[in-house]
Amino acid sequence: MIIKSIELADFRNYESLEMEFCRGTNILFGDNAQGKTNILEAIYESATTKSHKGSKDKEIVNFNKDEAHIRTYIEKEGLTTKIDMHLRKEKSKGIAIDGKKLKKAADLLGICNVVFFSPEDLSIIKDGPAQRRRFVDMELCQLDNFYLYNLNNYNKIVNQRNKLLKEIYFNPSLKDTLNIWDMQLVSYGSKIIERRNLFVDQLNEIIYDIHKKLSGGREEIKIVYEPDVSIEDFESRMEYSREKDIRSKMTSTGPHRDDFGFYIDGLDVRKFGSQGQQRTAALSLKLSEIELVKKITKDTPILLLDDVLSELDEKRQNYLLESIGDVQTIITCTGLEDFVNNRFEINRVYKIENGKATLMSNE
Ligand SMILES: Nc1ncnc2c1ncn2[C@@H]1O[C@H](COP(=O)(O)OP(=O)(O)OP(=O)(O)O)[C@@H](O)[C@H]1O
Ligand SMILES: [Mg+2]
Repeated sequence: MIIKSIELADFRNYESLEMEFCRGTNILFGDNAQGKTNILEAIYESATTKSHKGSKDKEIVNFNKDEAHIRTYIEKEGLTTKIDMHLRKEKSKGIAIDGKKLKKAADLLGICNVVFFSPEDLSIIKDGPAQRRRFVDMELCQLDNFYLYNLNNYNKIVNQRNKLLKEIYFNPSLKDTLNIWDMQLVSYGSKIIERRNLFVDQLNEIIYDIHKKLSGGREEIKIVYEPDVSIEDFESRMEYSREKDIRSKMTSTGPHRDDFGFYIDGLDVRKFGSQGQQRTAALSLKLSEIELVKKITKDTPILLLDDVLSELDEKRQNYLLESIGDVQTIITCTGLEDFVNNRFEINRVYKIENGKATLMSNE
């Protein structure tokens, strides 16, 4: 699939923008703070209903306006789909596909798959478990409607249970109501554990070869799912930790505490890997994500590379760009030097300046 064009109105620093993309490589270049990432954010948002950096709609709508619009045209197997998104500061967003309003945001999924790659992704191995969970959730929510449904429900229940734990402090008789929450928590949580487990298996099938190549044939990588609790023990652990939870007013057990381990030749890269190893493993992970999306959706995703090339050495840059293949890619960068040196094929170049895009070259 490819994105053919995007139109923005009052989205961040864009009062009004119309931009067309082509197959292959599209470059957005310009100085800092001009709006390059904002365009990628708009594409990500119109594919997933969420901002890649977790911004709320009211932060995304232009400072001086109350609502914003994103319109994208997606082409898939020769058919074009129009996605309209209406963001409001005070209300939830409205979405329409080909002019037909969606009942719920989740119905958008599957229309457009994107992989977002930013410099922060390169530190995913050395960051804390929350970042790794976020990576897994961002991808699975795009790929699997059930996962999205289960995760939304699970998160709601954890929040409500935590609220209840705080109330129990003042009103101990509420303790009995915990049971109902715990049952639901275990039910939704178990489905999350199951899917994350499968996701790690699927990634392992792909990442091994990619990482071996990236490390010059030297390293063997393996991802290990480290669930906070197994499905079998979930119920009993909830019961066991109940008193502790009441004291700390926090839900201490469940997949919101999961982690994902990365091992190179048996060594835990999170703790013992060199910086270079950690970054290479992170790059392998992102490349595996692209391959996995291709495999599951039987289509190519749209790749959004936010300023990531400048973070990689020449060897890794080349590897990344070579492995992109026929995936439509939109790359942001501050300078064109690397590309002008002409190591890569470029199909279209836009200069981004203060919320405006100027077409510089078009193959
Ligand atoms: N809600 C908003 N309304 C208006 N302007 C906004 C809003 N949110 C962010 N901006 C502006 O958008 C600009 C940042 O845009 P963006 O992050 O896309 O820059 P960039 O070109 O990617 O820069 P860099 O090269 O530093 O990454 C900032 O000047 C910021 O003030
Ligand atoms: Mg940026």
